[in-house]
Amino acid sequence: MLKRTRLRSRLLIFVAGLILPVALFLGCSNNAPVSQSPAPVEQASSDSPADEDVALATEIGKSIIASCPMAEPGDANAHAACADKLASLELLRDHMSQEIRWGGQKEPELYALRENNTTSFAPLVWRRTYLSTFMFSGEPTVEQKDNLTVLRLPIQFRSDLDPGAFPYPFWHSENKWKAYHQSTELLLIMEDGMIEGAMRSAIKDTERKVVEREWDGKWQWTVANGQQEPKVTLYQNLFSAANPHVNSLDESYRAFEVAMRDHSCEVCHSPSNANEMNPLLILNYPNQALTLRHETVRQIQENLMPPPNGIPDEAERQRLVTLAEAFAKAGDEALAYEGEPVDATAATPSSANHS
Ligand code: HEC
Repeated sequence: MLKRTRLRSRLLIFVAGLILPVALFLGCSNNAPVSQSPAPVEQASSDSPADEDVALATEIGKSIIASCPMAEPGDANAHAACADKLASLELLRDHMSQEIRWGGQKEPELYALRENNTTSFAPLVWRRTYLSTFMFSGEPTVEQKDNLTVLRLPIQFRSDLDPGAFPYPFWHSENKWKAYHQSTELLLIMEDGMIEGAMRSAIKDTERKVVEREWDGKWQWTVANGQQEPKVTLYQNLFSAANPHVNSLDESYRAFEVAMRDHSCEVCHSPSNANEMNPLLILNYPNQALTLRHETVRQIQENLMPPPNGIPDEAERQRLVTLAEAFAKAGDEALAYEGEPVDATAATPSSANHS
């Protein structure tokens, strides 16, 4: 609400800056507030918050483009370098909301994230594993659409990477896989100077060739050397090598994940999205599960998940709550070490009153 109000007043100031001098010129100055209007049009608009948003979005756009230049679509080194840069790009990190929504834009003029189908992400996870699947060139363009600032970046998809370099087999859906190849732009949706989410543009270049891949029905798999795939979903890949919390985080997720399987959480919370939840919330990959690390505790504690009545057995419910809390805590520590904002107010509700 506060955000909205601030934005409205910004818009008002901006519009007033444009209209009032014209009104004055037309001799409508018998209206008292108008005659007190101070600023000439150029000054008012060049200082306006709307212009600040545009300038900020342009800077962010340029920094993303510079981080991930064009390369061969299967170049693993270029992909890794881009992912590293995006993970540590402070200008981007400092202007991302705590939960980022990502999906395909339904129609060219539809910019409101809630009106499109999206998935929710922890910002670092989205930067490193999703944004890095694109290469950028050219210049950013920025437009104001109602209360939103839309930053557009021309994109090319890294279509030929190893299967484990994608956050999950996008090719499980022919349409999604095609859209990743053929969307011509990435749209970053900003509100009040913060990125709330991003979309692959509805505008497509249908001439772009789509790499053929067939899905074998597996969200996860293991390759010959024992490496778990997709490797980009592992905490070792998400966090820097020096991060001391990676092992404890991994262990706490594994323990929680086994328990979640007992309650079918991942039947619904996986990319197949059988229940068509929007935004989709994913729990079957280590990196993606971070998004819900606090909310899972609450949902289990309050018997909201799994639907319809949670886990009826008190002791079993408490077992999951304890595992979920350990995961949430380890997730906070690992993210904080990387300099990611960890919202103290989102802190896991204490289980003390349940013990
Ligand atoms: C039958 C499908 C299904 C199962 C099984 C399921 N969920 Fe959900 N979950 C949903 C849907 C659908 C939503 C979206 C919100 C809603 O409609 O309540 C959701 C929402 C959530 C949320 C976010 C709620 C919010 O308001 O932010 C969390 C956290 C969650 N589920 C955790 C779990 C956990 C943990 C389990 C297993 C113990 C689980 N879910 C099992 C379908 C399911």
